[in-house]
Amino acid sequence: MPITKLQEKSLKHIWYPCSQMKDYEEFRPLVIKAAKGSYIELADGKKLLDAISSWWCKSLGHNHPRLKKAIIDQIEKFEHVILANTTHELIGNLSQELATLMPKLSKVFYAGDGSCAIEIAMKMSLHSRYINGDVKRNRFITLKDSYHGETIGALSVSDIGLYKNPYNTILFQPYIIDLIPYVHSIYDPLWNDCSEKWNTLEKSLETYIDSTTALIVEPIVQGAGGMKIYSKDFLNRLAKWAKKHNIHLIADEIMTGIGRTGKMLACQHAEIIPDFICLAKGLTSGWMPFSAVLTTDDIYNKFYGDFSSGKAFLHSHTYSGNALGVAVALETLNIIKEERLHTRDINHIMLKNMYEIKDKTGRLKNVRGIGGIVAADLITNNKTPRLGYLIYQAAIKAGILLRPLGNTIYWLPPLNITDDEIEELKNKTMQVLLETT
Ligand SMILES: Cc1ncc(COP(=O)(O)O)c(C=O)c1O
Repeated sequence: MPITKLQEKSLKHIWYPCSQMKDYEEFRPLVIKAAKGSYIELADGKKLLDAISSWWCKSLGHNHPRLKKAIIDQIEKFEHVILANTTHELIGNLSQELATLMPKLSKVFYAGDGSCAIEIAMKMSLHSRYINGDVKRNRFITLKDSYHGETIGALSVSDIGLYKNPYNTILFQPYIIDLIPYVHSIYDPLWNDCSEKWNTLEKSLETYIDSTTALIVEPIVQGAGGMKIYSKDFLNRLAKWAKKHNIHLIADEIMTGIGRTGKMLACQHAEIIPDFICLAKGLTSGWMPFSAVLTTDDIYNKFYGDFSSGKAFLHSHTYSGNALGVAVALETLNIIKEERLHTRDINHIMLKNMYEIKDKTGRLKNVRGIGGIVAADLITNNKTPRLGYLIYQAAIKAGILLRPLGNTIYWLPPLNITDDEIEELKNKTMQVLLETT
């Protein structure tokens, strides 16, 4: 297909995220005309079923009429006012709502992207140690293959070399927990009991106890690391271990939160109460760069005092608590709760479909899933370089937006996807695998 003027102009000036720009010489940017529900419409009229909720955020699909109304109603009033020293009806309501998501986490600090929320939680943890005069606790623990964002702090506590390696000279080094008990589903025996693995692991953690300020986890599902699901018992044990040793637990629910794993928060699977919860992406159903850090009175009170005490948390982002984000987040929570989308069982049918593809194509292994996430690994002889990228291209031709993570393919569609759309996802994924592998 000859390049269009718009594609030419775009490639001349846009440096695309998460891309090798040379790839665009052969595969041009898709020209978007509109997006509605589970579909993205291209300029040539082609429709793509959004199997990955546009980087895991469009949990209510595209252009939801109630979210559109919420944002327009807010625009009629005001679009953004500095949050420091101000409040308004909707942010009062949203903050109250967010404070009910997890008992004891009743304080909300707002930011923009998910990575900013991670930086904030890390800084709050470190800063609270500083206030306590406990500056020896200045290290973080993270899980192998974890991902927490792209800013320097968030990247430091991530463990994906592809994103991290070029910057290693300035990143700080966390302790990394290996031996994670991964599961295929909640019916895996390890889901409820990982005691054997835990006993070995707990011993290896001993050396970290006195120097660690916080342990950071993606609860239950590691997204960018390959949609890996781990035992709820493991999370529960980690949380108890952290509490026992006065180590804060930061739950990065940026991908898993607000209904993605079959509960409102993934932490609820393990019945734990972390010290910090970071939310973004699905919080506004992907309408706005809008994130929040929830924390406890205990942490908050450490910072509370006369200004002269120098304890205040003086972190600020210009768009902290942006009013359009507030309006759309509040309505997102209303819709998810009213329609009970966080407990809707699409996992059963999506898992069944992925197993069917595995059986019929013989191209998949390690099928796994929880809530609105299902994944599997491609069987590859390593002779096809960048198989995932080829699959992405073939999927676009077939009419689905499927973006494998390396050799892992996954579905993470809008939580309100219809049964017919799930069927279409299955048929088209099957077709793509048969054509490509
Ligand atoms: C678990 C997790 N944490 C943090 C982030 C970073 O969020 P953002 O891209 O909004 O900065 C992501 C993004 O994919 C994520 O999946």
